[in-house]
Amino acid sequence: MDSRICIALDFQTKQDVMNFLDQFNEQLYVKVGMELFYGEGPSIIEEIKQRGHKIFLDLKLHDIPNTVKMAMKQLAKLDVDIVNLHASGGIAMMKAALEGLEEGKTSDHRPLCIAVTCLTSLDQEVLDQQLLIHEPLEDVVLKWASNAKEAGLDGVVCSPLESPIIHKALGLDFLTVTPGIRLADNNVNDQKRFTTPAMAKELTSSYIVVGRPITKAEDPVAAYHEVYRQFQGE
Ligand code: C5P
Repeated sequence: MDSRICIALDFQTKQDVMNFLDQFNEQLYVKVGMELFYGEGPSIIEEIKQRGHKIFLDLKLHDIPNTVKMAMKQLAKLDVDIVNLHASGGIAMMKAALEGLEEGKTSDHRPLCIAVTCLTSLDQEVLDQQLLIHEPLEDVVLKWASNAKEAGLDGVVCSPLESPIIHKALGLDFLTVTPGIRLADNNVNDQKRFTTPAMAKELTSSYIVVGRPITKAEDPVAAYHEVYRQFQGE
């Protein structure tokens, strides 16, 4: 079965990534973020793909529509499986992103494109006082997710706790990709609100993003299998 667990490869160097991947004998879904991509450049994508893994390229684009379109056209050439952007860039920007992906795609299928709704590091106080957004945070998340769907995107990045309400309003086919996952015995690190993989499954997460509970585990392969058992097992 295809993995719906994206392991966040939050490493500084290619060598660290390869040392980590060398431990696994199976096809993984991995997330490459800004730290690794800006450090190693696009060649890191090709090297990970050559090992047979699927890739969520998490660069969170946010600019005027034409710039995002042309940037997405370039990213599409890397032939990754998922890319993303900020929903706060608006519907025109999200539509332009899809145009860029269609123009740049190297096979029949463009990468899936998902939108970050409200960063989980923001809370109601920041919305109110710094951004002058006075609606309840949950309403903002749902509105921005609706905008993403209207633009034609495939889903959103959100908290597992927001997944049920987004799926109820926008349908189960609209993907929810959810970080903030911890195994019951993990240090919660800087994730303020978190759920276990089993809870994320119950809350209808389409994919989960898991970093440190796997990458920093004493036995990363065993930790991955425990996450897999809880989220995708019978
Ligand atoms: O180590 P941990 O499991 O907390 O990693 C979570 C990953 O998901 C990190 O790569 C982080 O950047 C990303 N992420 C997040 N919260 C968001 C969006 C992305 O934790 N709202």
